[in-house]
Amino acid sequence: MMQKQLVFFVLLAFLIQISFAFTQNNSTQEPIKKDWVLGMYEPQDFSAFKNVPQNLTYQEPGKLYMLHQDALHAFERMHIEAKKDNITLILISALRNFSYQKRIWQTKFQQLKNGDPLKTDEQIALEIMKYSAMPTTSRHHWGTDMDINSVEPEYFESGQGLIEYNWLKKNAKRFGFCQPYSPKNDGSRDRGYNLEQWHWSYMPISQQLLQYYKDNISYDDIQGFSGSQDASKIRSIQDYVLSINKECLNWKQSHESY
Ligand SMILES: *[C@@H]1O[C@H](CO)[C@@H](O)[C@H](O)[C@H]1NC(C)=O
Ligand SMILES: *[C@@H]1O[C@H](CO)[C@@H](O)[C@H](O)[C@H]1NC(C)=O
Ligand SMILES: *[C@@H]1O[C@H](CO)[C@@H](O)[C@H](O)[C@H]1NC(C)=O
Ligand SMILES: *[C@@H]1O[C@H](CO)[C@@H](O)[C@H](O)[C@H]1NC(C)=O
Ligand SMILES: *[C@@H]1O[C@H](CO)[C@@H](O)[C@H](O)[C@H]1NC(C)=O
Ligand SMILES: *[C@@H]1O[C@H](CO)[C@@H](O)[C@H](O)[C@H]1NC(C)=O
Repeated sequence: MMQKQLVFFVLLAFLIQISFAFTQNNSTQEPIKKDWVLGMYEPQDFSAFKNVPQNLTYQEPGKLYMLHQDALHAFERMHIEAKKDNITLILISALRNFSYQKRIWQTKFQQLKNGDPLKTDEQIALEIMKYSAMPTTSRHHWGTDMDINSVEPEYFESGQGLIEYNWLKKNAKRFGFCQPYSPKNDGSRDRGYNLEQWHWSYMPISQQLLQYYKDNISYDDIQGFSGSQDASKIRSIQDYVLSINKECLNWKQSHESY
């Protein structure tokens, strides 16, 4: 009798182990480092970053898309599932390191400065930060975040764009994705960037990076571009990096069973 029970439990433990091994897809555990979180790297510095196949991206000459491999696998699966519902999900933007983000930032900064030389750096930064992050504060540095199908709010307000957005809101969580910049002032968050229907984050990795950011990054780390001296006044960590959809902040590992 005892022996049968023992065999039963050993077998059970074995089966649990096996099913765990199959449902838990192990990421290459790349240790989280300051340089990764702040975007201070060359993409090839991290073996976990992979090129995204062309058929999953919006093609622009010379543009290369990379993602953390776990985020890429999850996006591939979501792309295939969406196709079954006649929905095409294509990346418009994915990983962006510090220098890439800085190029975006400086271009917008100069345009706004030229448009109105009397504007202060702080006013310009706040204007840009309706949609774009200061270099060192962008989730796109992480390789876990992506812009899907369009970056125009209007695109997602009707027609095919709205159908796609509704599909993502309903289904993306099954693949590990959450929308960090959900509508403002609807109880899910009240500060930071405007609504971004296109921006989705692969939570199993990005929630670890956000936690690292919270614990280990300070305003001294935010420098090297126009307006960076105002980052603390603007509260770009508290009101932007950390002001995301509550559903993403409270993301539970239990979602991770796809
Ligand atoms: C995950 O890692 C564990 C321990 O290293 C291993 O036993 C398991 O087979 C791995 N699972 C997958 C899906 O690679
Ligand atoms: C697990 O990883 C493998 C190879 O890295 C990939 O092909 C597969 O799609 C992943 N599966 C899941 C469930 O994440
Ligand atoms: C994309 O192309 C690759 C080959 O480069 C192919 O293996 C994959 O199935 C294609 N994926 C989709 C979603 O069409
Ligand atoms: C699939 O979506 C396209 C628009 O992207 C539409 O033109 C077509 O009629 C749809 N097909 C079906 C079967 O719903
Ligand atoms: C940033 O990424 C680009 C490619 O997008 C690359 O050319 C550049 O060398 C990278 N380096 C740094 C330090 O940001
Ligand atoms: C913050 O940095 C310390 C020292 O490198 C590290 O031990 C800790 O795990 C980091 N915090 C997070 C959330 O990763």
